[in-house]
Amino acid sequence: MSETAKIILEGKEYELPVIQGSEGEKAIDISNLRGLSGYITLDPGYKNTGATTSTITFLDGELGVLRHRGYSIEDLAEHCSFIEVTYLLLHGELPTAQQLAEFESKITEHTLVNEGLEGMFKAFPTGSHPMGQLSSMISALSLFYPKSLNPHRGEEAINRTVLRLLAKMPTICAMIYKKRLGHPIVYPNNRLDYVTNYLNMTFGQVSDPDYTPDPVIVRAMNKLLILHADHEQNCSASTVRVVGSSQSNLYSSISAGINALWGPLHGGANQEVLEMLELIKEDGGDVTKFINKAKDKNDPFRLMGFGHRVYKNFDPRAKIIKKAADEVLEKLGVNDPVLEIAKKLEEVALNDPYFIDRKLFPNVDFYSGIIYRALGFPTDFFTVLFALGRLPGWISQWQEMRRDKEPIARPRQIYTGEPPRAFVPMDQRK
Ligand code: CMC
Repeated sequence: MSETAKIILEGKEYELPVIQGSEGEKAIDISNLRGLSGYITLDPGYKNTGATTSTITFLDGELGVLRHRGYSIEDLAEHCSFIEVTYLLLHGELPTAQQLAEFESKITEHTLVNEGLEGMFKAFPTGSHPMGQLSSMISALSLFYPKSLNPHRGEEAINRTVLRLLAKMPTICAMIYKKRLGHPIVYPNNRLDYVTNYLNMTFGQVSDPDYTPDPVIVRAMNKLLILHADHEQNCSASTVRVVGSSQSNLYSSISAGINALWGPLHGGANQEVLEMLELIKEDGGDVTKFINKAKDKNDPFRLMGFGHRVYKNFDPRAKIIKKAADEVLEKLGVNDPVLEIAKKLEEVALNDPYFIDRKLFPNVDFYSGIIYRALGFPTDFFTVLFALGRLPGWISQWQEMRRDKEPIARPRQIYTGEPPRAFVPMDQRK
C-alpha cells in the first residue's frame, strides 16, 4: 500500500494520501481535508505549500541543484543558446538542429511590433520605470490581437501567441531603452540570432547598419538569460499561473508576472543590489557598517542579493554568474570598483554568524547587475533583462497550468476580524 499521512482532529483520525515526486520529494495531499474535516491548512507566504505538480524545473535548495527538464543548469549555461533553452522549457526536449532552425525562423516572423504601440510612449511620463512600461506594453499587446483574448481557441492560436510574445519581447525591451535615450528605434534584423538581434536593437544605431555586438557580450547575454529562464513556483511564475487560472489570456498573465517580478524582494533585487553597492562606495566603502545595519532588527536595511526562499546552501546560478562577471569584466577591460565592494561584502557576510545561522548566501541577483552595468545597461533596466530571460519559464508554467486543466486559484483564509454586529446609522457613529 502506498504511504499515507494520518491527522487527528477533535479525536477523529483522517488518512491523507502522500504524493512522491520523481526526485523523491514528498507531499501530503490535503486537497480533500476541508471536505472531510472542515479544517483548512494555514501557510502564509506558501513557505510549506506545493501549489502544483510540475515537470518543468527541479530544484533542491539544500544541495544547490537546479535542473530544467532534467538537464543541469551548469550544462545548459555552458553549452546552449538562450533560444535552445527556451525550446527545451516549452517542448520538454532539447531541439535537433532542424527543430531549432525552424523555431528561430518562426519567431522571426513576428519580431515587428505594431506602430500603434509606439504611441504609448507619449503617455508615459519622463523617467517612468522601465518595468512599468514593459508590463503596460505586454498587456497592450492583447489589444492588438483580440483573438488571443480567448485562451480556448486551440493549440495553433496559443502557439501563435507564444511565438508573438517571444518575438516581440526583445523588440519592446529595446524600444523602451531607445525611447529613454530619445534615440530613434532600431528595427529587428531577422538575419540575426535572438540575442544578437536584441543587442543590435539596443546598442546599435539607425545611422550605423554595420554595428555588430562583441561575441563576448553575446555569449554573456545568452548565459545570463539562460540563468533566469525558469525557477519553478517563484513569486512571478505563481502569479502567471494564478492569473492564467481565471482563464485570462496569456498576454495579461505575463504582464502580471512582470509586475510581480518588479518587486525588490524578487527580480527588482538586481537594481537594488547595484544601488546598495554604489551607496556603500559613496559612503567610504566600509562594508562592516552595512553588514551591521542588515543585522539590526530595528533597521529596515537588508543585504540585497542575499538570501533565498528555497536555496539554503548556495544558489547555483550565483556561482555561474560570479565566474561570468570576472570573465566579462576582464575581456571588456572594465575595472569596476563596485565589484571589489561586492567581493568584500560577500566575504564578510559569509563569515558572519548572523548570515551563517540563517543560511543567507549570495543569490542570482548579487552579481548579475555588475555584468549588466559593464555591458552598458542603466541600473533601472536590470529587472527588464530578468523579465526577458524569465519569459520562456512563465510561458511554460502557463501552458502547463492550462494543459493540466488546473482549477481557478482561490486560496482560503482564517477570518480574524470583528464578529457580527448591529449596523450603526451615520448620525450615531462616533
Ligand atoms: N539581509 C539581512 N537579513 C536577511 C536577509 C537579507 N538579505 N534575508 C533574510 N534575512 C533574515 C530575516 O531577517 C530573517 O531573520 P530572523 O529569522 O532573525 O527574523 C531570516 O533571515 C529569514 O528571512 P525571511 O525573510 O523569513 O526569508 P524568506 O524566505 O521569507 O525571504 C528573501 C527570502 C529572498 C525575500 C530574503 O532573503 C530577502 O529579502 N533577500 C533580499 C532580497 C533579494 O535579494 N531578493 C532576490 C531573491 S533571488 C531572485 C529571485 O529569484 O527572485
